[in-house]
Amino acid sequence: MSKSNTTRRRFLTGAAATVGAAAATSFIPTRFAIAAKAPVRVGILLPYSGTYAMLGNSITDAMKLRIAQAGGVMGGRAVEYIAIDSEMSVPKAAQNANKLISKENVDFLVGPVHSGIAAVMAKIVGQRKTPIMIVPNAGSNDVTGGLCAPNIFRTSFSNWQAAYPGGTLMAKEGHKTCATISWKYGAGIQMMAAGRESFAKAGGKSVKDILLPFPNVEFQAHLSEIAELKPDAVFAFFSGGGATKFLKDYAAAGLKDKIPLYGPGFLTEGVEKAAGAAAEGIKTTLHYASNLDNPANKAFRAAYKTSTGNDANVFSVQGYDAGSLMLQAMAAVNGDTGATADIIASMEGSVFLDSPRGVWRMSKAHNPIQDIYVRQVAGGEQKLLGVAAPALEDPATGCKAG
Ligand code: PHB
Repeated sequence: MSKSNTTRRRFLTGAAATVGAAAATSFIPTRFAIAAKAPVRVGILLPYSGTYAMLGNSITDAMKLRIAQAGGVMGGRAVEYIAIDSEMSVPKAAQNANKLISKENVDFLVGPVHSGIAAVMAKIVGQRKTPIMIVPNAGSNDVTGGLCAPNIFRTSFSNWQAAYPGGTLMAKEGHKTCATISWKYGAGIQMMAAGRESFAKAGGKSVKDILLPFPNVEFQAHLSEIAELKPDAVFAFFSGGGATKFLKDYAAAGLKDKIPLYGPGFLTEGVEKAAGAAAEGIKTTLHYASNLDNPANKAFRAAYKTSTGNDANVFSVQGYDAGSLMLQAMAAVNGDTGATADIIASMEGSVFLDSPRGVWRMSKAHNPIQDIYVRQVAGGEQKLLGVAAPALEDPATGCKAG
């Protein structure tokens, strides 16, 4: 059995039987026979410049790797990628998304990284039947909450989901007070709220909540204020280049050994080497750890290293799983991108048995139900300490689906 067959067999979908039956009876209309020869069009709207460039590149590289591992075809058709640099610009988001949807006629729209852009895209895509949008990072709670729609799926996390267990961890480690610090936009606001929510539930209290304009990295004055306030701990969300700068500034301000840092794992993810000693020892919560002991993770990390020269991170895992999600759905409809309802049904019932992050399944709101781990940076890697929240599901507040 070939590698891709093995993988496909290990990817369950609740709708597989139904889709298979439909395929046997009603397929092969002329429209499909002609379209079958054309490549599947995958639009990508991700950041390739600025503070989140590493995230966009990790997602793209891993998604392409996954599809290359399946022979570069989805449902028997070649794949064409049409990528736009989001520049992390919310004002340009609608124009960029519309370009991919209306001008480039993409079948799948993969993106974004940034919660603010995600909300703009979800409003546009959710009002249409096509394309199928797959969010490979942005955690905006609304995308699988109030803005949820049949044709919007996420292979990453919700902001609540990644941050809530972090507040619990901080309390469990004996801390009673904290300060929170992040960027003032959807992701930072929602993650800090979730961290405070679980911290308060465990008896903790935030004494100061600091928000900087995105993607500002002028941390000095805020670090001085934190040093004066002396909370037991600091809960932070930054990511990419901004996270590296924050970790370095935090250590340089002499705070690292005095006031332990916590947060959703993006704070240290993919920046372990760049931040060096400033990241060592920091404990965070996330749906991935680099040394997760499952065969899929080991094979993925080795293949990713060979093909990109880089170490895999959570962003690449999310991109890899976006590739898997499209592959299995396209296989289920034999490459018929017009069979939208069947593609959606296939994605809705999906259970990922071979994800590098461990087993996860798609919720009714189209967000992963997944284990959230406790990790610690040691020797430049994210080492697993335990499971903070098994099979955690986002509450999907406001989503009428399911
Ligand atoms: C987001 O904007 O939703 C976001 C960005 C970077 C991360 C996580 C979430 O690392």
